[in-house]
Amino acid sequence: QVYTDYFFDEPVFDLHDGGYVPLEKADVPDQPLNIPAALQPDKVDGNDVYYTITAQEGETQILPGAKTKTWGYNASILGTTIVLKQGVHYHVHLVNKLPEVTTFHWHGLNVTGPIVDGGPHAPVYPGGSRDIDFTLDQPAQTDWIHPHPCPNTARQVWNGLAAAVVVTDDEEAKLPFPRNYGVDDIPVILQDRSYHDNQLDYKADYDMDGTLGKYALVNGTINGVFNVTTQRVRLRILNGSDRREWRLHFDDEHEFTQIASDGGTLPEPVKFTKLMLTCAERAEVIVDFGDKKPGDVVTLMTDDMPIMKFKIGEYQHEDVELPEHLTTIAAPEVTPGLPVTRTVMSGMDDKVRLDGKLFDMQRIDRKQKIGDTVLWDVVNTNDMDAGMIHPFHMHGCQFLVLSRNGKAPYPNEHGWKDTVGVNAGETVRIAVKFTKFGVYMYHCHILEHEDTGMMAQIEAYDPNVKHEYHLISMDEM
Ligand code: C2O
Ligand code: CU
Ligand code: CU
Repeated sequence: QVYTDYFFDEPVFDLHDGGYVPLEKADVPDQPLNIPAALQPDKVDGNDVYYTITAQEGETQILPGAKTKTWGYNASILGTTIVLKQGVHYHVHLVNKLPEVTTFHWHGLNVTGPIVDGGPHAPVYPGGSRDIDFTLDQPAQTDWIHPHPCPNTARQVWNGLAAAVVVTDDEEAKLPFPRNYGVDDIPVILQDRSYHDNQLDYKADYDMDGTLGKYALVNGTINGVFNVTTQRVRLRILNGSDRREWRLHFDDEHEFTQIASDGGTLPEPVKFTKLMLTCAERAEVIVDFGDKKPGDVVTLMTDDMPIMKFKIGEYQHEDVELPEHLTTIAAPEVTPGLPVTRTVMSGMDDKVRLDGKLFDMQRIDRKQKIGDTVLWDVVNTNDMDAGMIHPFHMHGCQFLVLSRNGKAPYPNEHGWKDTVGVNAGETVRIAVKFTKFGVYMYHCHILEHEDTGMMAQIEAYDPNVKHEYHLISMDEM
């Protein structure tokens, strides 16, 4: 079966509030797509691997003429791709060479909070550093790191900070997926930006309902071209935008196959011609260009706007059928006797609230016991205007989506997720289990909503072990 519709309530998407900025075609010649280099370890010592990640200022040629001042992780924009393997113990030296405080949040990684997780309680001050370590114990997936300082996440991401994190494991390694990084396995980081004399001006473009840019960028490149040298290409697509939803399809309605969502491999591959991603969601897809010949060009679009091109070169024909079953994800065993947790995203602009409240760094909003599997109803009340989609994200866990307004989730939502787009007027039921101690954020991933305070924190606890957390205040940021 090939799905040819977006899996969502389309009218909701189209009812944007007044501040919506449509994409425009940039007057920029085609240029090679930026493929971020893979981060090299400082040291490998048996099962211990050492990395340094530096948040730094730089300059990037984005438009013709003057370079744009941008921020990145070990790079002038975005960041080097961090490849992690299940079971390995990582030691990461986090360095801040920016002129202001930042944090290094591992979006999607199942690590202890709030410090290793890198949310707002883990500041790294300008000129300073922080050392963290963790053992990676989750399956292969595409995650990312981005800053999370309160309330400057949106601006720092806008300036360029975001890097792909590729998690590998032995099970996924056996599946017939392309995995030659940079050749047939590439990150596709979707963002939108506007420029003022070739420079970013976050204040000028700021919108409380999420800042939108005029131009589409993939991996920081406008009108990027990727030279295809293999029949199949694996795209690790990340919506790294502050606010924009992307509605992806190819200009020739070429079909593609999703093999993984936020938290890793899907139980079954899902074929479609259209894919929508809300902020922070990831989708790994395989595109089989076997029906194309050298010289052909296939354009990736969002709505009617081209965003990048695939230029088909010489490739070796291959005949790979993906198995119908990719991995087994057991149905969640909900812990009996616990009430359903209900969390409500409401409002727009300065009225955005989570459970009727604004974020308070020193308030623990909820607790959940480690090991319990709890049903959560995530509600988008749609009480203003037409409402908007709020992408709901949780730190410290991957959850399973069980239903949308009581109906089955989308066909590509049967895998692990950490971010789910909740449509206006919708209740999405998820099953949530924490396995590690910590204080973790949960929030709307429209970054300006998060910064405004559409965010809360939960303590994952073990009743037999007492943990003290130092929750810093906004003044300490
Ligand atoms: Cu992508 Cu609170 O994070
Ligand atoms: Cu996160
Ligand atoms: Cu929101």
